[in-house]
Amino acid sequence: MVNDEFILLKNLHRTYQEAGLEHAVLKGITLTIGRGETIALLGRSGSGKSTLLNVISGIDKLDQGRVIVNGVDLTVLPERESTLFRRKNIGFVYQFFNLIPTLTAVENIALVLELNGYSPSVVREKSRAMLTAVGLGQEADRFPDRMSGGEQQRVAIARALVHSPGLVLADELTGTLDAETGELILSLLQQLVSDQGGTLLLVTHSLAVAKTADRILTLEDGLLSEQEGSFAW
Ligand SMILES: Nc1ncnc2c1ncn2[C@@H]1O[C@H](COP(=O)(O)OP(=O)(O)OP(=O)(O)O)[C@@H](O)[C@H]1O
Ligand SMILES: [Mg+2]
Repeated sequence: MVNDEFILLKNLHRTYQEAGLEHAVLKGITLTIGRGETIALLGRSGSGKSTLLNVISGIDKLDQGRVIVNGVDLTVLPERESTLFRRKNIGFVYQFFNLIPTLTAVENIALVLELNGYSPSVVREKSRAMLTAVGLGQEADRFPDRMSGGEQQRVAIARALVHSPGLVLADELTGTLDAETGELILSLLQQLVSDQGGTLLLVTHSLAVAKTADRILTLEDGLLSEQEGSFAW
């Protein structure tokens, strides 16, 4: 059965204090996401897209509001349990990759499996298979800073998906990639998440990418709006 309330975001607020000034970035975000949906998140630079992903994933703290994933309210769980839940159920592709420079490609991918308690043989098998799925089967032992931007993106995608999380959060993948390569990598991400039956919240500036999503949301002035019906572009 389709669970059309897989993710519930209720009245999310986040305000930063800087130099004595308050800057409200999220001003009451409310959203329901169904299982298996792909959502494109648009918004100009500084509108709070990364902040929204970070508060959902627990990287950043909320001032107010609830994040409920598959019926579990992460905002009331004790910190340790919330961390364990997120580690199992959420995959994150960071805006700036955040690959660990002292680990090889395959070790970067294996880490989340190790943290989730998989046996060494399963860790090895799953992380190799995921590297192959992103087309880097031959590059397992290379270090991230020796890889091209596009290769690093694919390692970051493999790392986010290797534990088959129900929810994948993908921040805008930056870098020096040309638009065509960037779109190819995003469609690879979408395909892999869809193969796993996962739900994807994807930040993008590309309307071509957004058009392939089930829903398009725009973050502006701390609030979300949804593009309804057929698209004009
Ligand atoms: N830790 C922080 N402390 C203070 N201000 C912050 C912090 N993180 C983000 N901000 C501010 O919050 C606002 C939103 O930032 P955020 O990174 O979420 O934007 P964004 O939409 O992801 O932008 P971009 O498209 O450039 O990545 C910005 O004005 C930023 O300066
Ligand atoms: Mg950002």
